[in-house]
This record gives sequence, C-alpha cells and structure tokens, in this order.
Amino acid sequence: MTSVLEDTFGRRVTYLRISVTDRCDFRCVYCMSENMSFLPKRDLLTLEELDRVSTAFVERGVTKLRITGGEPLVRRNVMSLFRDLSRHLKSGALEELTLTTNGSQLGKYATELADCGVRRVNVSLDTLDPDNFRAITRWGNLDKVLEGIDAAQAAGLKVKINMVALKDANEDEIVPMLRYCHERGHDLTLIETMPLGEIEADRTDQYLPLSTVRQRLAEEFTLTDLTDRTGGPARYVRVEETGGRVGFITPLTHNFCESCNRVRLTCTGTLFLCLGQDHAVDLRAPMRQSEGNEALHRAIDHGMGIKPKGHDFVIERRNERPAVARHMSTTGG
Ligand code: GTP
Ligand code: 5AD
Ligand code: SF4
Repeated sequence: MTSVLEDTFGRRVTYLRISVTDRCDFRCVYCMSENMSFLPKRDLLTLEELDRVSTAFVERGVTKLRITGGEPLVRRNVMSLFRDLSRHLKSGALEELTLTTNGSQLGKYATELADCGVRRVNVSLDTLDPDNFRAITRWGNLDKVLEGIDAAQAAGLKVKINMVALKDANEDEIVPMLRYCHERGHDLTLIETMPLGEIEADRTDQYLPLSTVRQRLAEEFTLTDLTDRTGGPARYVRVEETGGRVGFITPLTHNFCESCNRVRLTCTGTLFLCLGQDHAVDLRAPMRQSEGNEALHRAIDHGMGIKPKGHDFVIERRNERPAVARHMSTTGG
C-alpha cells in the first residue's frame, strides 16, 4: 500500500512526531507534575518497532520525522534509531530527520546526531538565569544545557530555541533570550502554554498571551513579518536590529489547525491525531499481529479518517481540570 495520507478535511499528513520515551531528566513546572509516574519500560515500543512504524509512514509520503519525548536522548540506545532512520534521508524519501530536546545530553550526542544526517535541533530553554532554570525545571543544570547548545552548533547543527512564555516566571527574560539567540545565530520560538495534563500550578497563573509579548517586542524592536515556514506551526518575524528571527506558536490566541500536517506517535504505539484532542488509534497491536504491514496500514488509514478539525484549547478557569488529561510528555509536544 503506498497511497499518501490525507484526512477528511483534505489536509495532507507529511510530518510524524515520534515520542520515544515519556521520561525526562527534568520536570518543567508547566509540563509535568513533580512526582510523575512513568510507564513501565516493558510497555514501550522497541527501537525496531519504532523504526518499523516510522518507515511505514515514510512509505506513505511522510517527509519529516521529529523524535521527541519526554526527553528523547534519555532513551537507551536512541542513537541506533537515528542511525537506522537516516537511511531514508539517503534514499531521498525523507527530507528531514530532527528532534526536540531539553539539551541536557547534547554535549554527548551532537556529533553523532550530525553524522546521522540531523541538520537542525530544537532545544527547550525557558530562562538564562541558573536559579530560575532550577525553579522551572525543578532541578536542571543550566550550564549543561548551554554547553549542549554550543556543542550542537559546533557540530554544524542549526539550533532553534523553544521558550514557553510564562507570566511572571520568565516574561522579563524574553528580550535577553532574544539577544542570546540572535548573537549566536539561533532562531527563537516563543510558545503559549497549553492546558495538557494536571500539574501543581494553575494555568491561569502561567498563561501569557503572545499577542501581548509581540506588542512589547514591537516597542523595542522593528519586527517584519516573514512568510516562510518550517513546516511547523510557528509564524516568524525578522528582528531588524539583530537580523535574527523570532517565531510565535499561538495555539490559544491564533489557532493554526487549518494547515495541520502532522500526527503524533507515543512511545507505546498510540497514534494521536491531534495534540489537543483524544482521538487516537493503537498501532502496536496491528504491528505485533503479523510480520506484514497490512494491518498497520489499515490502522493508519483509520486514523486519517478520524483526525479532528482542530483543538479547542482554552486556558481553564481557576481550579478547573485541563480538557486533555495526558501530559505533553506523552505526545511529545
Ligand atoms: P519546527 O520544525 O522547527 O517548525 O518545529 P515544531 O514547531 O514543529 O516542533 P517543536 O517540537 O519545536 O514544537 C514547538 C512547540 O510547538 C511545542 O510546544 C509543540 O507542542 C507546539 N506544537 C507543535 N505542533 C503543534 C500542533 O500541531 N498543535 C499545537 N497546538 N501545538 C503544536
Ligand atoms: N504548553 C506549551 N508547550 C509545552 N511544552 C511542554 N509542555 C508544554 C505546555 N503545557 C514544550 C516544551 C518543548 C516542546 C516540545 O513543548 O518546552 O519546547
Ligand atoms: Fe522534560 Fe521537556 Fe517536559 Fe521540561 S518540557 S519536563 S524538558 S519533556
């Protein structure tokens, strides 16, 4: 079966995000609760199964694979998955193999990632202040992440920094972050916090609309809208004073679902059709059912048929439960 993937709204799916673990060495306050319980390792797809299912998507016209987590680089032997998947870059079937990481292990893996054909890496970094970094990640070491980012750049990887904009917690640090990024030639993407999974904090206290941030930036800098996209949801501006780019990911203030091109695979083989909805199909059982991929492709087709039009995130009112119970670390952002 080789037909391309298209949903019932006529959107082509060309981008698969693959969460290889729900575990992470940090516990960011907007992402996880302090004492998260993680999946037993025996429930995870093996690396061979992750390769098999990714390859099935590539056969169906997916041209961009992004490895995520949790923190993808804490999955044991994850580099062998990158190495195996890189054959699709060589064959020309895949345009991009990339990852989103918290950066803590990049010092160790940057060179190997570049060797596997990774050209770009997105690193989550919400602050440049060591104490605030520890407060947001609960125990992360900022220096290790900054060293990881430098190692990625030294290995020839293009770096994009993802910063979740958080009211009070890091809103004063957006301009310093912009300068840090642009001095080094990195793009910066700002993200509105999304109500996924229960955490200790109240999202109403965390939420900072990016429309406000953009207005503030426009008072200090000259922002020019750019039309080129990376295949992700960010809309970019060029900052004339620095020559760098800032992206805005605005699921709350500006929904971008109309042009959605992606689906998400969890580390246990569940395919989620939307980050902000529960529509899902299991790919693990059809994959384990037989050595052939017929049942797997049928399940993927079923997924295309139930991909919803979009999310309907709202920042919940005080003390309300989030509409989507699973954490971001389950679906990999
Ligand atoms: P690029 O390829 O660099 O454009 O990356 P990306 O934005 O596709 O991926 P990344 O992992 O850097 O994601 C950044 C943020 O965007 C994360 O917080 C994601 O949750 C969010 N994001 C990515 N895709 C979607 C989406 O389809 N819907 C929503 N609501 N958020 C998304
Ligand atoms: N809302 C928005 N972004 C989030 N991330 C994690 N949790 C949330 C959330 N609730 C971000 C991480 C990372 C990306 C994959 O998702 O910071 O950059
Ligand atoms: Fe880990 Fe990323 Fe979640 Fe932070 S946001 S806890 S680094 S998965």
